[in-house]
Amino acid sequence: MSTPLLIRGASQIVTVGGGAPRRGQALADVGVLRDGAILLVSGRIAAVGPVAKVEKLKEAGSAELLELDGRVILPGFVDSHTHLIHAASRAEEYELKIQGVGYEEIARKGGGILNSVGKLRATSSENLKARAQLFLERFAEHGTTTIEAKSGYGLDLTSELKILSLHKELSAEQPLEIVSTFLGAHVVPAEYRHKRNGTREYLKLLEEELLPAVARNRLAEYCDVFCERSAFSLAESRRVLEAGKMHGLRPRVHAEQRSHTGATGLGVKLGAASCDHLEYLKPADIRALAKSGTVATLLPGCDFHLGQKRYAPARKLVEAGAIVALATDFNPGTSPTVSMPMVLALGCTQLCMAPAEAIAAATINAAYSLGRHGRVGSIEAGKQADLAVFEVADYREIPYYFGVNTCWLTMKRGEVIHMRD
Ligand code: NIG
Ligand code: FE
Repeated sequence: MSTPLLIRGASQIVTVGGGAPRRGQALADVGVLRDGAILLVSGRIAAVGPVAKVEKLKEAGSAELLELDGRVILPGFVDSHTHLIHAASRAEEYELKIQGVGYEEIARKGGGILNSVGKLRATSSENLKARAQLFLERFAEHGTTTIEAKSGYGLDLTSELKILSLHKELSAEQPLEIVSTFLGAHVVPAEYRHKRNGTREYLKLLEEELLPAVARNRLAEYCDVFCERSAFSLAESRRVLEAGKMHGLRPRVHAEQRSHTGATGLGVKLGAASCDHLEYLKPADIRALAKSGTVATLLPGCDFHLGQKRYAPARKLVEAGAIVALATDFNPGTSPTVSMPMVLALGCTQLCMAPAEAIAAATINAAYSLGRHGRVGSIEAGKQADLAVFEVADYREIPYYFGVNTCWLTMKRGEVIHMRD
């Protein structure tokens, strides 16, 4: 057993304790402790509470000390929507978008997702892995300790399995936990586009070869689909998600990002873990989400990066009682950021979420959407010691100082994985 660790001297311990998921007013109730301490034993939180009480515990006597000198400590961020594995940036498209060329127009000309697919197929697993490793270090530097990662830039058997196998390898070899999602239905790949029944043929491949191979090799927990005019229709999305369920993969959905498709209603009906994006949500969708256990995952980094004025209706979702989460959507096309602190800032200024709401959305509710709320997402006795310390005196300063990384230290299962020098 490793030496216990006593963490004290925080100006605030933002515990986000008290159960999951958080809906309505409970989202802002993040349980801030002052004069608190946290005792870690064997990579877990053994106790959290008033310093006078925690210091009296038996293991505290022999514990090493970590003094936070007035900094703020949070549960490590859970980034519940990323496209981790990709081969290159799309900075050239970024410049085109700034000049006024639309996202769909770029995609029609072979750019967009297909641009990333071409590059990924031509890149070795070793190179993809090395690139992902660097990004995983950056996630940790920004206070993130768990991520979800989607395939979807492979779109053939070999390349999709290459991505999903990397999720598994990386999750085992570096400290961050990676929750794997199969997104074979990202778009129809180029080689099927000129065929008369190309979409149908690709979906047949997906159902008869890709999904069975993913399930057989236990390479994903979730199956996602991009339901959009430029990707898959509602009927096609239903087919993919139902096929995923048959293989034991719970649905997640890219829904109402660029237009209203009805994907949210579908996701709720199919018991999706999460419906993501939601910029074009309708009142009936908000009601459906509010009555469901499906998480509404908002990705304001996308709208910010694409220069879009339309953001998801976060306030309406919170007020209706939906389970709201925030994530980066780290990907080369619409949101090339690993920074949850930046996403918190966008959640506050663009989605009008209170800083406390944004923190709960980025920790406990995100953990809930990944089925990990029993282990991570809050600072509570019994949970994994996944923690992030920020060089600020008040948790509201984390989104307030936007564009700078105030993360001072990150811990995964009680091990320091990032410390600012
Ligand atoms: O979440 N919407 C679909 N997928 C990604 C974008 C992918 C890309 O442009 O490469 C997203 O925004
Ligand atoms: Fe995405």
